[in-house]
Amino acid sequence: MKVVQDAVLADEVFTSGRPGSPAAVVHARIELGGSAGGFDSHRVNLIRHNLHQHPLLQLPRIAQLAHELMPTKQCRFVRPGVTQTSEFFHTPKVPDGRSIGEVFERIEQPGAWVALYNIQTEPEYRRLIDELIDSVRPVVEREQPGIFNPAGYFFISAPPSVTPFHLDSENNFWLQARGRKRMTVFDRCDRELVPASAVEEFIIHRSLDGVRLDPALRHHGRDFDVGPGDGVYFPSTSPHMTSTTAEWARPGDGVSVSLAITFYTAVTRQHARVHQCNRVLRRLGVEPRFPGQSRWRDAVKAPLGRLITAALVKFRNYVVPPGGA
Ligand SMILES: [Fe+2]
Repeated sequence: MKVVQDAVLADEVFTSGRPGSPAAVVHARIELGGSAGGFDSHRVNLIRHNLHQHPLLQLPRIAQLAHELMPTKQCRFVRPGVTQTSEFFHTPKVPDGRSIGEVFERIEQPGAWVALYNIQTEPEYRRLIDELIDSVRPVVEREQPGIFNPAGYFFISAPPSVTPFHLDSENNFWLQARGRKRMTVFDRCDRELVPASAVEEFIIHRSLDGVRLDPALRHHGRDFDVGPGDGVYFPSTSPHMTSTTAEWARPGDGVSVSLAITFYTAVTRQHARVHQCNRVLRRLGVEPRFPGQSRWRDAVKAPLGRLITAALVKFRNYVVPPGGA
């Protein structure tokens, strides 16, 4: 109930966080108390937040942000007809050649889908993300110290629409701010679903080539039907996908807005190094343990992985992806 009360208050007291603006009575925050047994940063958790009435999450303001991000190719679009089993291919060009303004004018049209990447490059959103990360930092850093590179991603869509099955390198607080959506998340350790070699390829080269959903394994996922104020946390490399269907949509209220707050930690960096080491071990015919499954093996492999990365940078012009090294 606390969140709902705050949401009602939020209309009056949220501020943009601009320097010199009146002090905010309500701070944007993520609440981690939704999971039975407490929050565990290594597992999937149901969470809550109080963002849905925040001024920076209203569609006109998001459209303004999209205009700012479009020239830097941080507005992303999927092809019409994409499904959850499709390749997660997205492009900085609107598929039918419309302007970003026209995309938002028709954002309620069935099947509309646009994502805004790296919204933290805009100072107001940077402050919002920092505020949200600060609200969870004490709990997260008990298990995963050293949060770095916090980032934000908006997903705006009108039903029926989907985000294909994929995985990300960061930990993710995925927050539903408007409309309804189904988020399906799979266990990061489910090796029947995604082979370890495919996860390594993604972490090391950001290739999703080996990451496709086998429909026969769809039941391995946990479905979260979420609305404004709800959210799902999932750790780095947890496969996930979303869908939204039209039964909740009403004229003037038919758009889903989700905000993903992502971040790396000392643990995700260690896992990236273990993946690098595992890849070499696999080429030597060894079937290595996945990161996070053996503390002492990870402690041995991570420094080796770091050396391998350094050698690749020096001799193969390897570019270390964000969160790695
Ligand atoms: Fe994702």
